[in-house]
Amino acid sequence: MSKTGTDIQYAADLLRSGKVVSIPTETVYGLAANALDPEAVSSIFEIKQRPSFDPLIIHLSAIDQLSRYVLPYSEELAFLLEEYTPGPITILFKKKDIIPDLVTAGLDTVAVRFPSHPVTMELLDKLDFPLAAPSANPFGYISPTQASHVDDQLGDKVDYILDGGACVIGVESTIVSYQDNTLHVLRKGGMELEGLMKRFPNLSINQTSSSNPVAPGMLKSHYAPSAPVVLCEDIQAKLSEFKGQKVGILSLKERYNIEAPSCQKVLSPTGSLREASQNLFAAMRELDKMNLDIILTSLVPEEGLGRAINDRLRRAAAE
Ligand code: TXA
Ligand code: MG
Repeated sequence: MSKTGTDIQYAADLLRSGKVVSIPTETVYGLAANALDPEAVSSIFEIKQRPSFDPLIIHLSAIDQLSRYVLPYSEELAFLLEEYTPGPITILFKKKDIIPDLVTAGLDTVAVRFPSHPVTMELLDKLDFPLAAPSANPFGYISPTQASHVDDQLGDKVDYILDGGACVIGVESTIVSYQDNTLHVLRKGGMELEGLMKRFPNLSINQTSSSNPVAPGMLKSHYAPSAPVVLCEDIQAKLSEFKGQKVGILSLKERYNIEAPSCQKVLSPTGSLREASQNLFAAMRELDKMNLDIILTSLVPEEGLGRAINDRLRRAAAE
């Protein structure tokens, strides 16, 4: 029997009984359980093979539920909530004791997100607890953007996969915190930063190469397919170095002349960064199934969703 379906009521029943369900969001699919139940939360860590020092995001459907879980917060955070939720942003708050330490890996902050996917909004409305949910991939692998991606890797480990179609944003949420009168971007993601830069001129953006991550778990070699990924300035020029090898290409819009054109993934024929971010992880997964010797790629313009795309490409290429 397939574990994938669209039964929101069934998913809610499973979650109420402490089970783990994969849920769709506009960013990526999550692996969800009752955030207030440490046993249910520990199943998430087990299924993902995720180290317990890496905290989880909790998901809510309405701002008025927030005060049950977090301490009073600044007007800057109130502005972010008002302006950008529901949507692809995750905000850190000082947590209340009701949130188990396991969720936050012992930190005194909790990451909160209000997803805008209608299926998961309806699911959350049926529950009287938040859902703790990391991305629904084995630890260190590419996040899933379709129900079938979850099924491929974790199908035998989750109780149900709630199918909400392909994720419209396709990269994980942008994570922010407000400290010392500064808004810090801890992870570049599905929310573009241009609007925030106007409102917070001294916005601080975490650079990816950190080996001592500010957000624990933002490890450098995340999102890695099994074939080595090489970032090149000029893919065409680089191709000659790999004659006789099975080469894959991941490009924004350009096509290159290679022996096996099917080993080439174009993210957006028109060069749209939004379309490219939607397609990025599915393309990486497809390339990963081709037994390639090497995957060549290059950075996209560092603007809008291009920041998140470049961040994921750099991580995929990191040792
Ligand atoms: O789009 C998303 O954010 C998806 C969907 C399912 O909501 N979730 C997601 O979760 O990407 P995950 O666990 O794969 O990534 C969450 C990141 C991790 O790098 C974790 O270290 C960081 O958030 N994080 C969570 N709580 C934190 C905290 N209190 N302080 C700093 N970083 C935190
Ligand atoms: Mg993840």
